[in-house]
Order: sequence, then C-alpha cells, then structure tokens
Amino acid sequence: MNTRKLNTLKAIGQSRIDDLHKLQNLGLISATGQFFPAGIHYPPITMYPDDSPESFFEGYTAPEDEGFVVYVHIPYCARRCVFCHYPIVTGAGEDEMAQYVELLGTELKLWKQRLGVDKIKAKSVLIAGGTPSFLNPKTFERFHKIFADNVDMSGCSQVTYDVHPQDLLGQDGRERIKMMADFGSDRVTMGLQSLDDATLSAMNRGHTAAQAQEAIDAMHAGGIDDVCIEFIFGYPEQGFEQWVDTIEKAIATGVQEIQLYRLKIEAYGDDPGPIERLWAKHPERFPSTEESIIQKAAAAALLAEHGYHENLTRVFTRKPSSISHYATDQCCQLLDCIGIGQSAFSSLRDRFSINTPNLSEWFERVSSGRLPLTRGLVRDLDQNTRWHLQLPLKNSRVNKALFKARTGQDAALIFRTQLDALSEHGLLTEDEHQIQLTSLGRFFADEVVTQFHHPEFMPWPQSDYAKGPLSVAQGDLGLSGPVLNAPTVAASCPLRAPDRVWP
Ligand SMILES: C[S@@+](CC[C@H](N)C(=O)[O-])C[C@H]1O[C@@H](n2cnc3c(N)ncnc32)[C@H](O)[C@@H]1O
Ligand code: SF4
Repeated sequence: MNTRKLNTLKAIGQSRIDDLHKLQNLGLISATGQFFPAGIHYPPITMYPDDSPESFFEGYTAPEDEGFVVYVHIPYCARRCVFCHYPIVTGAGEDEMAQYVELLGTELKLWKQRLGVDKIKAKSVLIAGGTPSFLNPKTFERFHKIFADNVDMSGCSQVTYDVHPQDLLGQDGRERIKMMADFGSDRVTMGLQSLDDATLSAMNRGHTAAQAQEAIDAMHAGGIDDVCIEFIFGYPEQGFEQWVDTIEKAIATGVQEIQLYRLKIEAYGDDPGPIERLWAKHPERFPSTEESIIQKAAAAALLAEHGYHENLTRVFTRKPSSISHYATDQCCQLLDCIGIGQSAFSSLRDRFSINTPNLSEWFERVSSGRLPLTRGLVRDLDQNTRWHLQLPLKNSRVNKALFKARTGQDAALIFRTQLDALSEHGLLTEDEHQIQLTSLGRFFADEVVTQFHHPEFMPWPQSDYAKGPLSVAQGDLGLSGPVLNAPTVAASCPLRAPDRVWP
C-alpha cells in the first residue's frame, strides 16, 4: 500500500485514540485500557457457581415452537496456537476422538430425555471447537450420522462449522468439505489469524498464507459459498503495515465475511495459556492499547471501503444474508440454545449453564448417563433484565417491543439514567422502536455494554476507572415480581432479510 493511503488509515486510527482517551476521562474505559469481552452472557461466565442438572432444569419448559439453537463442541486440535485461550486438547488418539463422538450421541439422548422429545428440533446449528474439521473423515462421517439420528434438521436455517485450513486440503479435505455440503451447510468460519507467513509461524498455526487461500478456494469449489475468515489484531510484533497488508489480502480472497478479534491475553479457562506466559515474561513485545486501536480502526475503514459492513459488532459482511444464524439466534434474538460437548454452554431463557471444561470429567459424566453441566445460574430479575438489554445491544440492537414482551419491563424507563448518559456522549441512539450503538459506541461496544452491569459484576475494580459521568454502574434496578418465563419464539429478524445492511 502506498504511504499516502497508510497515513490516511493511521489518521483514522488516531481519531479513535482521541476517542479512547476521552472515554477514559469520562470513566467508561479503564485507565489500563484492558479489554473484557461482553455481550455473550451476563453475569460474566467466570462468576458462575457450581450447579447440577437437577437444579438447573427446575421450572424450565421448552419453547412453544419446540425449536432450539444447537451448539456442538469438538475440543481437538492438531496443535495449540500460541494465542489460543480456549481449553482445547492436542495429542489425542483416533480412538479417543471416535469415542468422544459416540458420547456426543449419548449427551444428545440425555437432552432428549430431559425435554421429553424423540428428536431435538434445530433452528440453527454451530459445530465449533477446538477444530471439528480435525476429526478424520471416518469419524467426521460418524458424527454426522449420530447428529442426524438425534436432531431434526427439517426446520434448520443454517449449519456452520469452525474449520482450520490444513484440514481442507488434499483428498481428506475434499471428503470433509463434501460431507459438510451434503449435510446442508453453506457456511464455515475459518480461523486464519494473519496472512503473513512469519506471523503465522510465530503463532504456531501450521499453515501458510498460500494454503489459507487454497483452503478458501477448496470450500468454494465444494459448494460452500459463505466463508467467514477470522483475524487477530494486537498481536506481538505485528506492526501496522503488516496488519494492513493482511487485511488487504483478506479482502482480495473474495470471502463473504471477515471477523476481527482483539488479542485477549487472559485465558478463557482456569489455566494460563502460552500467550499469558509470554505476556508475563515479555510485555514489551505486545502492542499498546493505542496501537491495537489504530489497527482496528484502519481495518474497519478498509473493509467498509470494499463493501464489508459491520452487521454484527466486529463482524464485517459483504452479503448480509451470510451472517451467522447461530450468533443472531443466540445473542440477538436470545433463543434457547443447547450446547453439547466439553466446555459447551447452554442458554435457556432465564438460565445459563456450562459443561465441564475438564475432558476426563466430561467423559466420565456422560458415560455414566449424567449431563455434564457443572456450573450454571438461573438469573434473578435484575440479572435477567440486564441480560436482555446487553446481548442485543452489544451485537446488533435492542428491539424495545421484544424486550418488553420477554421481560415485562420498559427498557427506556429502567435504564433511563444510563441511556441518557451514553447518548449524551454520542455512544448510542434511541427511537420509539429500538436502541442501538452509534459508530463510536460500536467501536467501544464491550465497554459501553458493561455500563449495564451491576456494580458487583464490573470487569475491573472501581479504582481502575477515572471518576466521571460514565464511571458509575447502576446499582439494583429496583424491580420486583417474578422473572418472566415467557417461551422464546423467534421474532422476525431484520438482519436476516437478504439485502439488509445496517448502518
Ligand atoms: C474457537 S477458535 C476456533 C478456530 C479454529 N480452530 C482455527 O484455528 O482455525 C475461534 C477463534 O477465536 C479466536 N481466538 C482464539 N484465542 C483468542 C485470543 N486469545 N484472543 C482473541 N481471539 C482469540 C481466533 O481468531 C479463532 O479463530
Ligand atoms: S485457534 Fe483453533 S486450532 Fe488453534 S488452538 Fe485454538 S481452537 Fe485450536
């Protein structure tokens, strides 16, 4: 890219740094600039107590239309990438993986018993990990058979897989792609992280940039049109020019969707991953918050120039209809979601549970006929009301009528103080029907959404924030009465309209 263009992109990034400093002074963003991913669950998942299937299901009834979003977790990977913060498993033998797949069938049966159904009706499906495409073709085929025996796919709107480029090459790759397409999938999410070979090697990714392109081409040739590719910014030694070059190359691949992740250093599970250890030893190798912000702003600007719109926060899509239905169903429409496999989570209306991240415990539990959920929470009225606001706000927008139908509350009344403060500082807008983030609010969506946390669930201590009009989380909402347990049925989703692009 020529110097003039690079400077223009840097200037765009610089204006976001000015915004960052302003929002730090207002008390919205912590002084350290650390980032906490919000908008997938509330309260934060790390704060859930131990739970058992018996107490988790008490008082739960299935949705009226009996449909569920279904998530399957396959924890196995060929290698551990340096940055990866998930509780993944490497070095497993073929027998272990084949047995895991059989036990996924047992777990589905346990769910069917709980729900009293012959088959689980799927609305949308995500098969993720870890790396589901790492299963060898025979085990992958067996997985599909087991899944189809237990899940009714007749009303399913989309099947998405998480895939790794290496698994899509050669004869085995072609077989896997055919199986996914034959199963009705037209969408995959492919982790690439970078298109710079030195960075890919430092990340221990096990593929080159050329192989990534080969894998994308193989997907398209195999009939899977919607390929979403994922990248990480804020990575050690990833300079601005190299990052911009990666985004330019990403655009040139011709994929439908590009996702940007800011590097999260703290592990998702209890054990520190390699990146946390690297940070402890060599913090100087990591870009500053400001440098990461410049990278993100430049990428967003470049993507917009090439027709990629941020239809879901931090996810840039050319054709809006190719967005993840799992994400819109689970995080925007808040539909009931069943998660199976090690560390998978289930989100059922007013409650949320997590399967054990310990693979041996998962094997033991499922083999003995017990659902493997070990932690969870039935939200109280305050928590449930905040959850209904935060997830759609972070990911797309809050539909006021839907909010009212699901919670019995008026969002504009109970969150008035927060809404006024955020809109006064240009972070959100509101009309009669909806509440949504502005482009500034969307850029700092994780931080804006934490404004709706109860003070006890703020990501960082109060002392990490400057004292300002946006530093005070709203305490108890003063609500009373039971948690509405209205069955969650899909409302029409504007995001799914084929040509809709959200501003
Ligand atoms: C669950 S992983 C599955 C990816 C797939 N196995 C692969 O490697 O191709 C989904 C995505 O999470 C992102 N991710 C993993 N660890 C991360 C971290 N520490 N910070 C930010 N993003 C991360 C990566 O972009 C990755 O592609
Ligand atoms: S990024 Fe993907 S391949 Fe790498 S360790 Fe994580 S889940 Fe496995």
